[in-house]
Amino acid sequence: MTNPESMEEGECWAECLDVAVRIARTAGQLVQEAVKQEKSVSSKSTPTDLVTEADQQVEDLIISTLRERFPSHRFIGEESSAAGEKCVLTDNPTWIIDPIDGTCNFVHSFPMVAVSIGFAVKKELEFGVIYHCFDGTLYTARRGHGAFCNGVRLQVSKEKDMSKALILTEIGAKRDPNTLDIFLGNMKKLLSAPVHGVRIIGSSTLALCHIASGAAEAYYQYGLHCWDIAAAAVIIREAGGCVIDTTGGPLDLMSRRVVAAGSQEIADYVVQQLQPISYGRDDHDP
Ligand code: IPD
Repeated sequence: MTNPESMEEGECWAECLDVAVRIARTAGQLVQEAVKQEKSVSSKSTPTDLVTEADQQVEDLIISTLRERFPSHRFIGEESSAAGEKCVLTDNPTWIIDPIDGTCNFVHSFPMVAVSIGFAVKKELEFGVIYHCFDGTLYTARRGHGAFCNGVRLQVSKEKDMSKALILTEIGAKRDPNTLDIFLGNMKKLLSAPVHGVRIIGSSTLALCHIASGAAEAYYQYGLHCWDIAAAAVIIREAGGCVIDTTGGPLDLMSRRVVAAGSQEIADYVVQQLQPISYGRDDHDP
């Protein structure tokens, strides 16, 4: 086996990507099996922020496998963070993991569930792997090397006219009346643009993959986490799209908000329509 510590960086990250693909497939197959079993479900930050034993088991499998292979690397995982581990991005090579994205879908056997593995070095996203657990679709991208779906190159939609756009979003965990009013108000503004439609599929990572594949023109959300964005951001950028902050500035991975689009024009339009919903940052203590 090659020693990753002694390899050239680019070569080393390519090897890390290969390992990520293998572990995402293995984890995805575990999720496929787990979906058929009885689930032990509990909640985290709010009653609608669900977690199952499978989320924890799959994250343990991914992190223990990667830690053994890359002992000097750091890890940010959804369930480790929920268990109190600090969620801080340093300059060190860092794996950013969502073991089961779409946990609510998983609980209901609704077929939109993914394993997401992103990788950052010096706070720059280097590659991303997203595995759709129900149909086995694999999305991958490495910075500067293109984005692929099952090995076929991805290209975002070239549409620039908002009235011809399909928009994706997710609801987030907060359901208090004020949050819901803003959420519905944002959707109302976009629907009356009018856009072709707005969809909510219950998995931020798979929704973002649909931006990368050109199946939809834009995605926006308040309340998602760094592990929902990390892998997908590389995939969308490498497919030619943009991933930015909801204010129009550069993406801040820890800010819990994002706008992604096939074109800057569509992204700018979405940014102008949005009223913000406030969520605490991922890298702040609870
Ligand atoms: C969540 C899902 C959901 C989105 C949340 C995510 P999880 O991830 O993607 O659709 O609204 O913001 O955190 O908890 O299922 O891994």
